[in-house]
Amino acid sequence: MNINSIKIGVLGIGYVGLPLSLSFAKKYELVAYDSNQTRIEELKKNIDSNLEFSKKKFIKIKKNIVFTNKKNDLKNCNIYIITVPTPINRNKKPDLKFLKIANNIVGKFLNKNDIVVYESTVYPGLTEEFCIPYLEKYSKLKCKINNNLQKKK
Ligand SMILES: NC(=O)c1ccc[n+]([C@@H]2O[C@H](COP(=O)([O-])OP(=O)(O)OC[C@H]3O[C@@H](n4cnc5c(N)ncnc54)[C@H](O)[C@@H]3O)[C@@H](O)[C@H]2O)c1
Repeated sequence: MNINSIKIGVLGIGYVGLPLSLSFAKKYELVAYDSNQTRIEELKKNIDSNLEFSKKKFIKIKKNIVFTNKKNDLKNCNIYIITVPTPINRNKKPDLKFLKIANNIVGKFLNKNDIVVYESTVYPGLTEEFCIPYLEKYSKLKCKINNNLQKKK
C-alpha cells in the first residue's frame, strides 16, 4: 500500500475511537463513522460528551476528519479500524452484535490488500472464527491466514 494513498475508516467513535481518530488524522485522511447520530452531530460541533477533548484541542487536530453516520462514506477507505463495543451480557458472554454489524459494513467495502484492525476487545480465536467469515461473505475475498507466525511461538 502506498503511504500517500492511505485513507483510514474508523467504526465506533467512543472512548477508544475518538482519540485514535484524532491521532491518525494528524497525518492521514480519515472517515470517523459512528451509528449514533447524536454522537456524530456533537462531534461535528467539536463537542466530545465523553470529555476527553476540549473544544479548542479538538479544532486544532480534526482538519483531516469527516465525522459521519453514513456507511457509504467509508467506501473509499483502505484501512479499517473497528472500535465498536463488545459488552458482556447477563450470561457473562460477550455480546457480538455490534461487531457483526461493523464487519458486515467493512466487508461490503473491502478491496484486495486493504487492512482491517480490531481494537474492540475480543477473545482468542474470535477474529478467525467470527470476524473473518463476515468479511469474506460480503467482500467475496479470501483471507490468507499466516500460520507461520503461530508455529514460531
Ligand atoms: N484496544 C484497546 O486498547 C481497548 C481499550 C479499551 C477498550 N477497548 C475496547 O474497545 C471497544 C470500544 O470501547 P469504548 O470504550 O470506545 O466504547 P464506547 O461505548 O465509548 O464507544 C463505542 C462507540 O461505537 C458506536 N457503535 C456501536 N455500534 C456501532 C456500529 N455497528 N458501527 C459504528 N459505530 C458503532 C457507539 O455508538 C459508540 O459511540 C470495546 O470492545 C472495549 O472493550 C479496547
